[in-house]
Amino acid sequence: VIGGEITGHTRIYAHLAHPTAHVRTPQTFNRGFTKRGLDAVAVSIDVTPEDLPELMRGLRCWRNLAGIGVTMPHKETIAAHVDVVEGLGAAIGAVNLIRREADGSLTGCNTDGAGFIAGMRENGYEPAGRHTLLAGVGGAGRAIAFHLAEAGVASLRISNRTFARAEALAREVARVFPAVPVSAAPPDPAGCDLVVNSTPLGMHPGDPLPVDADRLEPGAVVADIIMAPPVTALMEAAAARGCHVHPGLPMLTTQLGAVVEFLHLEEAPAHV
Ligand SMILES: NC(=O)c1ccc[n+]([C@@H]2O[C@H](COP(=O)([O-])OP(=O)(O)OC[C@H]3O[C@@H](n4cnc5c(N)ncnc54)[C@H](OP(=O)(O)O)[C@@H]3O)[C@@H](O)[C@H]2O)c1
Repeated sequence: VIGGEITGHTRIYAHLAHPTAHVRTPQTFNRGFTKRGLDAVAVSIDVTPEDLPELMRGLRCWRNLAGIGVTMPHKETIAAHVDVVEGLGAAIGAVNLIRREADGSLTGCNTDGAGFIAGMRENGYEPAGRHTLLAGVGGAGRAIAFHLAEAGVASLRISNRTFARAEALAREVARVFPAVPVSAAPPDPAGCDLVVNSTPLGMHPGDPLPVDADRLEPGAVVADIIMAPPVTALMEAAAARGCHVHPGLPMLTTQLGAVVEFLHLEEAPAHV
């Protein structure tokens, strides 16, 4: 917000989650909005899956709502509540950003996968040409899988607690990117020079590791998309094995630019 004051001109970015205590988006984006001189504010909305349909109907009427951010556990179900899904978002089947159009209709997209790739590149790690293991096929994992394939990884192995979901995602990615060898696999990182954790394992003390850390290749890039804690047990184990460690925050910070552009936050608000 401009001058630290929220006014009747301020545009609202509603970030939907359940629960909300762990989210980092509002504070990260508010710092970003201020830095860019944008009259916008991000607020967190705690909504349960049962109440989501009613909230989404209501948000269509919120005229100075610039957009909606979406995270756990709503990313996959929310696509049913928008009118159009753009880009790889439809293939991914998960939406994490929604624009409210002037007529109240909702346009969704997915910025997670592109944000992950941009964050890696910002830290100097190019995914193209890497043999990759991705653990976890939730909303974030699905987005990352499609974008890793788009970025041109040498191969993509996908592991997941519910193995059938990894198999299904491998088939879907292979259909969209037939040139990339994609398979469902156990969480064994041997032979991989890129390992990505997109499960929530590591958020809580005592969580098991999402991959077999004893088989990490020294020199591999090990990326964890968890943001809290900033250093997970997997990242510690990877550093001890001589891997390069890439944290979760860049995936989020790189998405701010995409959010500003998709929501037209630099343009004058239409409702004033
Ligand atoms: N850095 C960022 O910008 C960013 C962005 C989005 C999300 N995240 C983080 O990424 C993580 C995943 O988010 P999401 O939205 O993709 O979650 P989600 O949709 O709930 O997906 C969870 C995935 O992890 C697996 N999983 C969950 N609990 C597990 C357990 N106890 N053991 C093994 N596997 C388990 C699930 O497997 P099943 O299929 O077997 O259920 C599923 O594949 C969260 O920690 C979230 O905070 C970070």
